[in-house]
Amino acid sequence: MSGSEPASTVTAWPGAAAGRRLVGDPPYEHPGASTLMRTVPFGPTGRNAANIVAGMMRISGSTDEEIRALYTAAREAGVDVFDHADIYGGERHLCERMFGRAVTLTPSEREQIMLQSKTGIIAGESYYDSSYEHIVTSAEESLTALGTDYLDVLLIHRPDALVEPDEVARAFDDLEASGKVRAFGVSNHTPRQIDLLRTAVTQPITVNQIQLSITHSTVVAQGLASNMAGEEDSVTRDGGGILDYCRLHGITVQAWSPFQKGVEPGVFLGADEYPQLNAELDRLAAAYDVTPTAVATAWITRHPAGMQVVLGTTRPERIGEAAAGSDLPLTRAEWYGLLKAAGHTIP
Ligand SMILES: NC(=O)c1ccc[n+]([C@@H]2O[C@H](COP(=O)([O-])OP(=O)(O)OC[C@H]3O[C@@H](n4cnc5c(N)ncnc54)[C@H](OP(=O)(O)O)[C@@H]3O)[C@@H](O)[C@H]2O)c1
Repeated sequence: MSGSEPASTVTAWPGAAAGRRLVGDPPYEHPGASTLMRTVPFGPTGRNAANIVAGMMRISGSTDEEIRALYTAAREAGVDVFDHADIYGGERHLCERMFGRAVTLTPSEREQIMLQSKTGIIAGESYYDSSYEHIVTSAEESLTALGTDYLDVLLIHRPDALVEPDEVARAFDDLEASGKVRAFGVSNHTPRQIDLLRTAVTQPITVNQIQLSITHSTVVAQGLASNMAGEEDSVTRDGGGILDYCRLHGITVQAWSPFQKGVEPGVFLGADEYPQLNAELDRLAAAYDVTPTAVATAWITRHPAGMQVVLGTTRPERIGEAAAGSDLPLTRAEWYGLLKAAGHTIP
C-alpha cells in the first residue's frame, strides 16, 4: 500500500508509542472511529472499533477490482478492522499480498483502519508453532505482504500444545518495541490457555477470536446447561466460560464463521436442515425490515459481551446486509428463541 499524501499527523492510539494505556486514561476515539455502526471497546487498549469486522480469508479467488469493491463497501458501512492471517489463501501470505496490492491507502487512511493478522499455524504440515522465530518472522512477512509498516493487532491463531510463554512474551516485546505490532491477542484459546500466556506476556490480551454462530454456539449453550446432567450442551469443551472470562478481563471476543452451520460446511441461512431457525430468522427479518443476515448478525452483537462479528463474505452487498444487524435490539425472547430454534434446549 502506498500513497502520495505526506506522512500522517494523526497520532496513533496511545498504546502505540508508550507501550500501553494506563488504567484511568480516558477512552480514546481513533480518527476512523465508525459513526455508522455500534462500536465496542477494542480490548483494554482504550480504542473503540465497529462491531462488524471484514474477514479476508476467502479473497484469494477475487480480482484486485473485486477486493477494492469489498474494501470500499466495508469502509462505507463503517467497518474499520480487517482480519487477515499468514495462512489465508493456501500459499503463505497470499491473501495479505492480494489485499496489499489491491488496496492503496494514504497514511491517514491507514491510521483510520486496523489491520489484524495471525500467526502460529503451519498449514501444509498441520502443526502449530508459537516459537519466537516463527512469530517474529511471520509478523514481518505479513508487513511486507500487506505493504504496511505496522500491524495494529497480531493474534496467536491457535493454541500450541508446545507453547513456551516466555518465548511468546519475548516475541511480543520485540515486535512492540520495534513498532511493528501495536497490540496482541489470541484466537481459539481457552481461559486457562490465556492465563498461561499471561504468566509471561505483559501486554494486554486484546482479542480472542473464536468460532460462534447461532448454530455453532457451544460457548453460549454450555453456560446455560452447565448443571444439566445428560445434556450434550453441558459438556465443557472450552475450559469453562470463555465468554465470561473475556468479559471479566476486558478481552474483546471476535466471532468467526458467523453464518456457517458449524461442523458441516456451508451457511445455515436458507439451509434445509434448519427449517425452524430459518422460519424464525425470516419472521424477525420481516418485523425489523432487514434481511435474515442482519438478524443472524444481531444474535451475536446483541450479546452484552460487546462482541465483534467477523464476516467472511466476498460480496460487497452482503457487508451492508450484515451491518444492518450491528445495533438491532433483539429482545430477550427473540434472542433465546433463535437459540432454541437452532436446536438447543433452554433448561
Ligand atoms: N480464527 C480462526 O481460526 C478463523 C477460522 C475461520 C475464519 N476466520 C476469520 O473469520 C472470517 C469469517 O469466516 P467465514 O468466512 O467462515 O464466515 P461466514 O461469513 O460465516 O462465511 C462466509 C462464506 O459464506 C458465504 N455466505 C455468506 N452469506 C451467505 C448467504 N446468505 N448465502 C450463501 N452463502 C453465504 C460467503 O459467500 P460469498 O463470498 O459469496 O458471500 C462465504 O463463502 C474469515 O474471513 C477469517 O477472517 C478465523
